[in-house]
Amino acid sequence: MEVKKIAVLGAGAMGHGIAQVAAMAGFDVHLRDIKEEFIQAGIDKIKWSLDKLTQKGRISQEDANAALGRIKSFVPLADAVKDVDFVIEAIPEKLDLKRETFKEVDANVPEHAILASNTSALPISEIAAATARPERVVGMHFFNPPQIMRLVEVVKGDKTSDEVAKATAELAQKFGKDPVMVNKDVPGFIANRCSVAGSNLVYWMVYNGEYTVEEVDAAMIHKAGMPMGMFGLLDYTGIDIVYHVLKFMEEREPGFKACPLIEEKFKNGELGVKTGKGFYTYPDKKWVPLDLPFEKAEKFDPMIPVYVGANMAAELLRNDVATKEDIDKAMRLGFNMPMGYLELADSLGIDVVVSKLKEISAKYGPFYKPSPLLEEMVQRGELGQKTKKGFYSY
Ligand SMILES: NC(=O)c1ccc[n+]([C@@H]2O[C@H](COP(=O)([O-])OP(=O)(O)OC[C@H]3O[C@@H](n4cnc5c(N)ncnc54)[C@H](O)[C@@H]3O)[C@@H](O)[C@H]2O)c1
Repeated sequence: MEVKKIAVLGAGAMGHGIAQVAAMAGFDVHLRDIKEEFIQAGIDKIKWSLDKLTQKGRISQEDANAALGRIKSFVPLADAVKDVDFVIEAIPEKLDLKRETFKEVDANVPEHAILASNTSALPISEIAAATARPERVVGMHFFNPPQIMRLVEVVKGDKTSDEVAKATAELAQKFGKDPVMVNKDVPGFIANRCSVAGSNLVYWMVYNGEYTVEEVDAAMIHKAGMPMGMFGLLDYTGIDIVYHVLKFMEEREPGFKACPLIEEKFKNGELGVKTGKGFYTYPDKKWVPLDLPFEKAEKFDPMIPVYVGANMAAELLRNDVATKEDIDKAMRLGFNMPMGYLELADSLGIDVVVSKLKEISAKYGPFYKPSPLLEEMVQRGELGQKTKKGFYSY
């Protein structure tokens, strides 16, 4: 199936970026939002971004004009989708709204079209069930900002056909992206799932008084080389965004029990940089680099979120959700990590990861118990780099 025309639903943070990426790759784009002014705001952002790219000499003025010329704006949904080959939905993260929209799209879009959702955490299968073509509905999860981030998670719902998943991955490649295949619709897919599990545990540790926010961040900055620290990054991203992701995950899988520390900040409106206060204060509502002394870094082991993330990654592999290469690629590209969690587990030692997870699960519950796959690897003596075999061979 050849894709020529694409509808992008929603011209917000993600939608305008996806529309730009598609137009720059030569596709005709129908950008749809519920009000003309919202589309105009999206197009203004696209123009700004194209101007930056031409100023930096990355694309010619001619190519920028051509890309912009390929984007048409639409308010009526039926008109936006009636003659397209592919739909990418990037509307707010509300299941009912997405289901209603998919139902209406299904009734108006050509039979051959593929319907993709950019949802971060909602079940693709439930969105697909609102249509009469669940085998042609797929997740196409871009990372923010879509113009820059190379990762796209292609997510299969219960009924998504292999052909549709393959065509979606091929389209992502034509956009210049690097897709990974998520074979099962698990909460958080790969990158967010592994990362959120580790971060949420650290929030709980702080909530329980084991460490302070500063001790965690000092260790993340001075010992792990994470420029903003963990709580600094939360303030920068927006505590509301993390709160919603955690809540969605918890609804689908109770083990992701959202830490009250995040809920308290969210309910007090202390959302981070944008409100001037989160875990730190920002008098000008602008990011200020954290200045934390090295002494504070002593107590916290910055590998704690890695042990948990690696455990999640091992479970994804054991349950055939994705290949080891795709799991590691998702972490590298989605979070700019130098190595994926399975590669990291190999370098730390699988036995070390298992014994740390045993300590953590004794305190924080069975959600953190070592994956049977990790336990089997220890029994087989496949401990990672030190034995020349772990998830990979050395
Ligand atoms: N922001 C991120 O970092 C990020 C990353 C990956 C995925 N996502 C997902 O992408 C989706 C969109 O997120 P966002 O951050 O761009 O949200 P946003 O609020 O910035 O944009 C959503 C846009 O959709 C419009 N809209 C509402 N109802 C609509 C409808 N029925 N049809 C068309 N447009 C409609 C809104 O007017 C708004 O312009 C969500 O599912 C989110 O979970 C977000």
